[in-house]
Amino acid sequence: MIVGQGEAIEQIINVYQTYLAGLNPPSRPIGNFLFLGPTGTGKTRIVEAAAESLAGDARAVIKIDCAEFQHSHEIAKLIGSPPGYLGHRETHPLLSQEALNQFHNDRIKLSFVLFDEIEKASDALWNLLLGILDKANLTLGDNRRVDFSNALIFMTSNLGAAEMDAMMRPGMGFHGAHANGADDPAALSKRIKSAGVGAARRKFTPEFINRLDKIVVFNPLGDRELRQILKIELLRVQERVFAGVPFLFQLTDAAKERLLQEGTDAKYGARHLKRAIERSLVHPLANLIATQQVRAGDLIAVDTDANGTGMRFDRVDEGLPVYTLFRKNASDEDRISLALDGLAEKTASR
Ligand SMILES: Nc1ncnc2c1ncn2[C@@H]1O[C@H](COP(=O)(O)OP(=O)(O)OP(=O)(O)O)[C@@H](O)[C@H]1O
Ligand SMILES: [Mg+2]
Repeated sequence: MIVGQGEAIEQIINVYQTYLAGLNPPSRPIGNFLFLGPTGTGKTRIVEAAAESLAGDARAVIKIDCAEFQHSHEIAKLIGSPPGYLGHRETHPLLSQEALNQFHNDRIKLSFVLFDEIEKASDALWNLLLGILDKANLTLGDNRRVDFSNALIFMTSNLGAAEMDAMMRPGMGFHGAHANGADDPAALSKRIKSAGVGAARRKFTPEFINRLDKIVVFNPLGDRELRQILKIELLRVQERVFAGVPFLFQLTDAAKERLLQEGTDAKYGARHLKRAIERSLVHPLANLIATQQVRAGDLIAVDTDANGTGMRFDRVDEGLPVYTLFRKNASDEDRISLALDGLAEKTASR
């Protein structure tokens, strides 16, 4: 689930629908997207989420960190080396047709390729990229052709990030100035947008910009978005717990506020929040599991501790029917809400 990036989602859906209707231009990728914007706002996550919902698997994304492919021997990891070269047989190019088609099935033939931090791409990689964007075509080291016409190509860049950071500094934007009524999120996101697009136009050649279907600048995440992300991330932690020793945990409002407080930093988007969740919830839970202080079917209440610095964990119930719920043929999210409903019933009937 992606919070607060409506424009990006809309653009992906538009392009996808054009493709379903058979109206996308032939011999080009289905869509070429450039994602800009502050760190930790969902640029990478949205690509995984798109793969999850359109191709049924988040792992369908082939992710290329452009900074890692600076030299020609590194480019060989992408496209393989010419026959006769040392190591030719051992190389399985990252961008082969098999890799691209890996998650195709009878119904859905979609590929997802993500080039992260493209401003760091070497000239050689840049040329490969231009060919893919324009002709949906790549020639491997051994001259085989790879067809990208069933692919959605996503590129991310931190261009303009420094400028955006300055805009989001407390007192200047989202949190500070807005609180004083001097600015509002819509105006800030507009300024961030033009900073991003401006930086991209200055840095990238027109031949690159012209090959893009869409440039999307991601919005910084505000309090409301972070609250929603907290909810999602807590569900995901619960999912992870279910996969191991299935027990339930529940945070008090105070505990949630603590995590939000710890995890709110306009500069790092949701990354800070995720770190706070790992540190203050996941690690202590892992410790309880490792020391066998929790058992399957337990309900653990998580609250702020008395001196207000950490969290306290108390077993408030046990023998919950999580095992049976766990075996049910339901999605993780369903399973958890089922478990929580069961719990609510149990509590209510006391
Ligand atoms: N808009 C969002 N909705 C839901 N979760 C989000 C959102 N933004 C960030 N997250 C959470 O934060 C994590 C980090 O976000 P992500 O990796 O997408 O950041 P990014 O924008 O790609 O940052 P960077 O520019 O540093 O690569 C995600 O895995 C996700 O859990
Ligand atoms: Mg990213």
